[in-house]
Amino acid sequence: MNVHAAAETRAPLSQARIADDVFEDMRRANLARWPTGAGVDFAAAVARQKSLPPHKRLGWVMRKATEEGRCLVQPRGGFGTFELQRELMQALDREGLADIVPTTTDSYTRNEQFHLAQNGIEESQRLGRSLLNGYPIVNYGVEKAAALIDAIDKPAIMLTGTSFPRLTGEVAFAGGYSGYLGSGLAYTSSYTKELTLEDGIRNYQYLDRLSAMYHEHGVELHRRQPGFLTGTNIPPSIAIITCVLDLLLAAAQGVKNYGLEMGETLHLVQDAAAVKACRDLSQEYLLRSGYRDVFTPVTLLHWMGAWPQDEAQSAALVGYGGTLAAIAGAASVTTKTTHEAFGIPTPEVNAAGLRMTRMAVYLARHIRLDAMPQFREEVDLIKREARPVLDKVLEMGDGDAARGTVNAAAAGVLDIPWSPNRCLKSRVMPARDVDGCIRILDPGDMPFPRDVLEIHEERLRKRAERERVPYGPDLAVASVFEISEPLAALHTDRWLERAVR
Ligand code: 5AD
Repeated sequence: MNVHAAAETRAPLSQARIADDVFEDMRRANLARWPTGAGVDFAAAVARQKSLPPHKRLGWVMRKATEEGRCLVQPRGGFGTFELQRELMQALDREGLADIVPTTTDSYTRNEQFHLAQNGIEESQRLGRSLLNGYPIVNYGVEKAAALIDAIDKPAIMLTGTSFPRLTGEVAFAGGYSGYLGSGLAYTSSYTKELTLEDGIRNYQYLDRLSAMYHEHGVELHRRQPGFLTGTNIPPSIAIITCVLDLLLAAAQGVKNYGLEMGETLHLVQDAAAVKACRDLSQEYLLRSGYRDVFTPVTLLHWMGAWPQDEAQSAALVGYGGTLAAIAGAASVTTKTTHEAFGIPTPEVNAAGLRMTRMAVYLARHIRLDAMPQFREEVDLIKREARPVLDKVLEMGDGDAARGTVNAAAAGVLDIPWSPNRCLKSRVMPARDVDGCIRILDPGDMPFPRDVLEIHEERLRKRAERERVPYGPDLAVASVFEISEPLAALHTDRWLERAVR
């Protein structure tokens, strides 16, 4: 079922806006791929979007939150039948006080295996519980999507974890979803092995072009880059590099409201600095390319690595994640729950994760680090890392972000730690330093400046010294598992062991 890139798009890859007539043909072919595609009528979809009150439009809500300096709270969530999904969305809205209500799709839908999703729906209905790990929005179609939107009083966002957004995007936008999370570089590098970056980028150019078409008709949807979710530590500079590249690709298609997500490092100062650097660099690179009117709010994600089994430990991680996001001045925070180590949370547990986070955001709402020297140094350091790489990537595409991304990934100039995708070298390796910040242990072929790398090395060597372990890849591996370790191992209560450390 996967349309990697239909023949009609096989013009040479470029960031250029897809021409109107080409896009019309692409849409026709796309909507014919599954029967519910016929339910997408663009004029009716625009009318439906316009009929939503402002507080149910994510484009408007993200702008409003940013104006007011509020940190919105958003969960994830998807079940395999319409009834279960409606109950979930209502629970997240009402009991969880979610500011943004999600719909996570199931793995079959993410991979466009709609026949298999259909079996999952039928089995789920037969057994009265969800046998899918998300909501199969394409199988249910536009009318049911609209019924989900009608069941809540918040804006809704699609969370699809996919490099194939064309049909989920069409159905969701037509049903009244006003946000869609996903991007060509981030999702293709996190979630696929064989799909080329070129095909992932082309698939998201379709979605971005579709979002821009709504905008041309007076509907401002919210598009969002998902950070990348390799489940490992990602240094902020590398996260920001991918944010900016996906942003430039979206802006070239005409998107005006584009969020950037980053996983929390869990170091308060580094996370706050990352949010500031991401916000600044996004606008800096937009302006350099001549875009003056793209709104770019930044979101932090609760810890995206391995979680502890102990629910008490997880509760601290949930609350702390809210604290970090609020102090960092993030426009929103995406939550997890005390069940993260075990699987998909129940609606009750999911709603509790939201309230834990919301309370933490409330408690921390007045605190900012702007005047702190360590914060300013970290912002500066992140920018000094990101700019040379971004400049080189763009140079490798002669100014074109699409070609630059593909060429730079092949050369290792653009790299991502532990990516499953064959288009990336994954030679770069991060680890936590003596202060708990994520640093670059091995840059691979990424062109970070020497003076910056010296700072990273010095901090990492200090950690190796303090922990009396060799300086090398073991530091990186230990950092990947750290947060999921039992508390007694992480933070001992024994005086003798402490003395040895
Ligand atoms: N419901 C709730 N959360 C989900 N996640 C993935 N699928 C679902 C779902 N159906 C969350 C998990 C995962 C993250 C990427 O998304 O927390 O770690």
